[in-house]
Amino acid sequence: MSMIKTVDICKTFHSNGRTPLEVLKKVSLTVEQKEVVCIIGPSGAGKSTFLRSLNRLEKIDSGKIYIEDKLLFDCVDGADILKLPHHEQVKALLEVGMVFQNFNLFPHKTAIENLILSPMHVRKLSEEDARERARVLLDRVGLADKTDAYPSQLSGGQQQRVAIARALAMEPKIMLFDEPTSALDPELVGEVLSVMKSLAQGGMTMLVVTHEMNFARDVADKVVFMFEGSILETGHPKDMFTNPSNDRTRQFLQSVL
Ligand SMILES: Nc1ncnc2c1ncn2[C@@H]1O[C@H](COP(=O)(O)OP(=O)(O)OP(=O)(O)O)[C@@H](O)[C@H]1O
Ligand SMILES: [Mg+2]
Repeated sequence: MSMIKTVDICKTFHSNGRTPLEVLKKVSLTVEQKEVVCIIGPSGAGKSTFLRSLNRLEKIDSGKIYIEDKLLFDCVDGADILKLPHHEQVKALLEVGMVFQNFNLFPHKTAIENLILSPMHVRKLSEEDARERARVLLDRVGLADKTDAYPSQLSGGQQQRVAIARALAMEPKIMLFDEPTSALDPELVGEVLSVMKSLAQGGMTMLVVTHEMNFARDVADKVVFMFEGSILETGHPKDMFTNPSNDRTRQFLQSVL
């Protein structure tokens, strides 16, 4: 079963007074259950827009989005012609967790409060159950001693680990990561990557936009190269990193490796 599938997703941004910017050009990608897929590519390629369109932070103009093999959105000319009931869309999208570059924690809430809010309000867990789950997750990301710390009292790496735990607290079936380590000081990158690696080893389905080529090489089942709104190449990391078939991929890898 595929966890997420997109077919021919297109997205154009219209900014006042500027020529429309076509950011996604028929992007089709399938992420199978338990698969780890890394998206690489230069700045402006559309990587974040693609990820954001998967959980509806960005509305697509056309194309199809499936979650767990269920067609969720079928868009033509900016309109969703499928029109599933809103609650069905929300329910399916709850399976999709997301971790952002800048953590996006609630600054006025402690680590554990960040973790219990959505499970209580959206999943309707009791506070006791939500706290129990949150403690287990904070322990899993190595922050058992930081449950009552505020984000401002945590390092970037710790904040990002809280953000990962917060996403996991909703028990998603797939996790999206948008450059989760690129806002971190170099010495803090490893602790976040190792949490992600252990998630992958635990069987989590993951779609990761990253510039960490070693992570992609070690952990990804599949690497996707995006360029100017299109997927130009998809392959196993070993093949892609040693012998890319597309010239653009080769150029990009030469510039980053
Ligand atoms: N809300 C928006 N309105 C207008 N243009 C946008 C908007 N969001 C993104 N863009 C433009 O779309 C293009 C793709 O942006 P996107 O953030 O998806 O790229 P990216 O591959 O994630 O790049 P990076 O590696 O720098 O994060 C860029 O040219 C960007 O300026
Ligand atoms: Mg981006």
